[in-house]
Amino acid sequence: MPTPPASSPFTVLTGASRGMGLGIARGLIDAGHQLLTLQRTPNPELQARAQARGLAIEQWSVDLSEPLAVAERLRSHLSAHLSAQREALQDAALNLINNAALLAEPGPLRDADLADLSRATRASLEAPLLLTAAFLGATQGARGPRRVLNVSSGLGRFALAGTASYCAAKAGVDHLSRAVALEEGEVEGGARIVSLAPGVIDTDMQVQLRSGNAERFAHCSRFEQMKTSGALDSIDAAAAKVLAWLQREDFGRDPIGDVRQP
Ligand SMILES: NC(=O)c1ccc[n+]([C@@H]2O[C@H](COP(=O)([O-])OP(=O)(O)OC[C@H]3O[C@@H](n4cnc5c(N)ncnc54)[C@H](OP(=O)(O)O)[C@@H]3O)[C@@H](O)[C@H]2O)c1
Repeated sequence: MPTPPASSPFTVLTGASRGMGLGIARGLIDAGHQLLTLQRTPNPELQARAQARGLAIEQWSVDLSEPLAVAERLRSHLSAHLSAQREALQDAALNLINNAALLAEPGPLRDADLADLSRATRASLEAPLLLTAAFLGATQGARGPRRVLNVSSGLGRFALAGTASYCAAKAGVDHLSRAVALEEGEVEGGARIVSLAPGVIDTDMQVQLRSGNAERFAHCSRFEQMKTSGALDSIDAAAAKVLAWLQREDFGRDPIGDVRQP
C-alpha cells in the first residue's frame, strides 16, 4: 500500500462492489479517503479511480456470511496497518461503514429455507457486530476521530410481512449501535456510532423485493410501484446523503438516524 498523504482519512467499507456501497466508495475516493473494502467480488472501477487520485485502496474478496474469519483478519490487519503507518495515520479520521447486507428470499418465515436465513442473518447482523468489535478494538488509542456508520433500514423500525429476517437484522443493528454508543461514551476519546436508514435506492436489493413471488410476498407490487413512480434514489444520490451524515459535526449525538429526517 503506498504511503498516503498525512492525515488522509482511512475508511473500511463493506459491500463496495455494487449498489449503494459502490456510490459510497466513489464518494469516499473523491473526498480523498484511503479505502479498505470487503465484498465477495472486488470492483476494478474503484482501483482505477483511487489510483488516478494517488490514493491507497485494498479490496478484499470475502464472504460476510462467514464473518468470524473476516473480523479476525480485519482486527490483525488494522493493528498492523495502524502501527506501520503510525506517522501518517496518528491524527487521521478512521471510519468503519457497515453497508453490506443480504436479503433472504422474501416470503413468510414459516416457509423459509433455513440455510438462506442463516446466510442472510450472518451477513446482515453478525458481520456488522463482529466488524464493529474488531474495528473498535484495533483502533482504540488512536488520536484522530473514529466513527462507525451502520447502514440500517426503515424495515428495522417498522415490520413488513415477508421480510422478517431482514427486519430483525436491521432492528438488531440499531440496538447494537445504541448499546455501543453508551459503551464508547464512557471512555476518553471513544468512537462515535450511528445506525442510519438510507432511504429507498435503485439497487439489486430492490429488484429482489419487487420481483419476488407475489403469492409468497404480497408487497411485491408496492416495491414495483415505488420503482415506476420514480421514488428510488440513484446509488450516487443515496451515497451522497450517507456521506453527508458521516461528516456531520454532531455525528453520533443520536445513534439512530434517517436521511429522510435530517
Ligand atoms: N436498496 C434499498 O432500497 C435499501 C433500503 C434501505 C436500506 N438498504 C441498505 O443499504 C445497504 C446497501 O444495500 P443495496 O441495496 O446497495 O444492496 P445490494 O445492491 O444488494 O448490494 C449489496 C452489497 O453487499 C455485498 N454483499 C452482499 N452479500 C455479501 C456477502 N455475503 N459477503 C460480502 N459482501 C456481500 C455485495 O457485494 P458482493 O455481491 O460482491 O458480495 C454488494 O456490494 C444494505 O445495508 C441495505 O440493507 C437498502
